[in-house]
Amino acid sequence: MWKIEPPLKNFKGKLSFANISTLNLAKQFGTPLFVTDSEQIILNYNKLYSAFSSHYDKFKINYAVKANNNLSILKLFNYLGSGVDCSCPEEILLAKKIGFKNQDMLYTGNYNSNNQLDFALKQKIMINVDSYSILPRLLKLGTPNLVSLRINPGIGGGSHSVLVFGGKNTKFGMSKKDAVDAYRLAKKSGVKKFGLHMMTGSSILDSSYFKKVTNKLIDIAVEIVDECKISFDFINIGGGFGIPYKPPEKPLDIKKVGSDIGKIFNGKKSSKILGKPWLFVEPGRYLVADSTILLTNVHSIKKSPGKYVGIDAGMNTLLRPALYNAYHHIINASRLNSRKTEIVNVCGQICENTDIIAKNRKLGNIKEGDLLAILNVGAYGFSMSSQYNTRPRAAEVMIHKRKIKLIRRRETINDLIHGQNLVTWFR
Ligand code: LLP
Repeated sequence: MWKIEPPLKNFKGKLSFANISTLNLAKQFGTPLFVTDSEQIILNYNKLYSAFSSHYDKFKINYAVKANNNLSILKLFNYLGSGVDCSCPEEILLAKKIGFKNQDMLYTGNYNSNNQLDFALKQKIMINVDSYSILPRLLKLGTPNLVSLRINPGIGGGSHSVLVFGGKNTKFGMSKKDAVDAYRLAKKSGVKKFGLHMMTGSSILDSSYFKKVTNKLIDIAVEIVDECKISFDFINIGGGFGIPYKPPEKPLDIKKVGSDIGKIFNGKKSSKILGKPWLFVEPGRYLVADSTILLTNVHSIKKSPGKYVGIDAGMNTLLRPALYNAYHHIINASRLNSRKTEIVNVCGQICENTDIIAKNRKLGNIKEGDLLAILNVGAYGFSMSSQYNTRPRAAEVMIHKRKIKLIRRRETINDLIHGQNLVTWFR
């Protein structure tokens, strides 16, 4: 069973979120609607920050913009003192628009073009270089103040095989051998400062994984320092901190992760050879996933063959179930006290058989016209949504201490045709 706990609340059998009636939100803004509770983001940020900083004070969080790029959410991270990790020039531009300073931005791309590298270089932001061949191209464009390399430490983790970014069979990161060659080349070319980076997987709930992979990275860092005679300004252990999506998953013990990593960074081997570099993390999911629910209306129920509950949010609104077979818990916001349950499939309106948000899911008695809430959609929810099947993208609302703000309006037909030039050839 899913426990209804804050920011969710059972208010006389109907769901409220951050103390606001979800039924009223749906009525006011329409559905599908992403609703974000700012307080939950603040809570997550503070929990993560104190878990690490209480063991190692040179600690910094760089929020991974790709998880949720809404400007108001970026603004909140800026207000909290976070940096940002950007995957492309466009994310750098968003962050700049919000007021993030150069020194608070990282650019972690992969297979970058010269134009992208040139852009980041001109913006004077820190670049995480993903493979050896990128470095000579970068150095030809100019001498960056700092060079950081993304290492593949040889192992990876992740809740789904496609979310494993380290180890064999991954397109990310470079070997230690390539890294040694790259640092030597950078040093020879006049680069004075260095960083080290890894990002080995996403959605990880096992705290011991972070200890294991960080130990590996530190071993590699020590060897690199020895072989290249450089020192690291920062060591970035990436993101990947998971959240529980599916009962009975338990939350990641982030305090344990913070204390394990702190111990490694404060340990003899590390402090003797590496000195005291900054410890960077760049999480997305952990900070925003559980801050947001997706409200969606039930329009049509088909009883046979199989029971299908048709809602107005589909793979165009939330791609994760279709793409990764990801589980998102669903609550009938209109009927929280209903005791009757049945097994149903919940589907969207897209003309694809993979447009299923929940397969064979035991849900409370659902009727046409009910409002459903899909949970934990703040990370890789809106940011992976599309206009497929000519669907305007959903609206987004933020709640901050009972204040409600539409932070992204629902798209219209004009947004769908924006930027197109109609040919005049076919008269
Ligand atoms: N840093 C880099 C370089 C990344 O590529 C990512 C995520 C992060 C940080 C943040 O990872 P997180 O803390 O959120 O695990 N679309 C998938 C997730 C893909 C993650 C891609 N990279 C999903 O919906 O689960």
